Amino acid sequence: MSGLETIVEFGCLSDEQRWNAGRYDFAWLPELDAHDRGIVKLLDCLADGEFSGQASSAQLYELMVREVDNGYPRELQYDWAEIYAYANIIVYEESRHGFSLGLLNYYVDTGRTDFIKRLSVREYGRKYVWCYDDRRYWDLYSYILAHLFGEVVNTELYRDIRAKVHHPELRQIITNVMTDEARHTRAWANLIGNLIRSDPRHEERALKTLTKGLLFHNAMVHETYFEGQNKMLKLFSSAQGGKAGAIERIVKIKHNLLDELFGADKNPLSEAEIKKIHMEFLASSFGETRAVAGPNGTIKFLKQEEDAPVLAEAV
Ligand SMILES: [Fe+2]
Ligand SMILES: [Fe+2]
Repeated sequence: MSGLETIVEFGCLSDEQRWNAGRYDFAWLPELDAHDRGIVKLLDCLADGEFSGQASSAQLYELMVREVDNGYPRELQYDWAEIYAYANIIVYEESRHGFSLGLLNYYVDTGRTDFIKRLSVREYGRKYVWCYDDRRYWDLYSYILAHLFGEVVNTELYRDIRAKVHHPELRQIITNVMTDEARHTRAWANLIGNLIRSDPRHEERALKTLTKGLLFHNAMVHETYFEGQNKMLKLFSSAQGGKAGAIERIVKIKHNLLDELFGADKNPLSEAEIKKIHMEFLASSFGETRAVAGPNGTIKFLKQEEDAPVLAEAV
């Protein structure tokens, strides 16, 4: 698929596979057992990550404006039109994930269901839309690659969470989100493939910035990302009984996607190398909770500070 066919395909798939959020009125929440509550309690930062899909779109535009200011050729700018069209679709889907997980976590924490009513728009904007102000890690190409590879991690994480939870309604929500993430992965792969094939200059830029795109999850824009990463480690399944663990699955899928995008001849990384840099990344961020961007988009870890609460008094 080329031209605008990909956006029609994935736009229609989103419509056809849209699950009913039921106005986020989850009447079954009191039925959650202690095991499920323990899992849901770990999902606060993951909900933040889902909401931070809002920042993805904002930053994607800003990165392009910066490129154009620096003399980026107009025809290359126009090649991104399909990707920008898809960003409009995906941002809404990520906010649905944020509302679902945020409500689940809030209920387990407080016993209340007025999560959305009590969300402050100003805090929402600070934490999830403009949060990238402190975390500009990427250029345009590494950022779009981070979206593709971030969806791989998301899909495998939800796959493992789904296998662990008991309540059928909770499992259904996790399945719905997982299915969305898998569709997002496929869409980004097709769209980025179209971009790369449209002009060799895109391929050159993408290859140049590949490692960062592969390692830096796009949800790193929000402030609790590393706290979440460390919490999530226990939710990922490790290899057992002949079944591949999450890290092996993620590495394999990422490697296959690199082959698909660049061809096996131009893909500079083997599976073993991808695994090695991922393990090094996990080790370097182990136990960290907060980070901002340092010079040249490096990660600067911070001591944990008291966050402003995202929930304001009901209005
Ligand atoms: Fe999501
Ligand atoms: Fe997604």
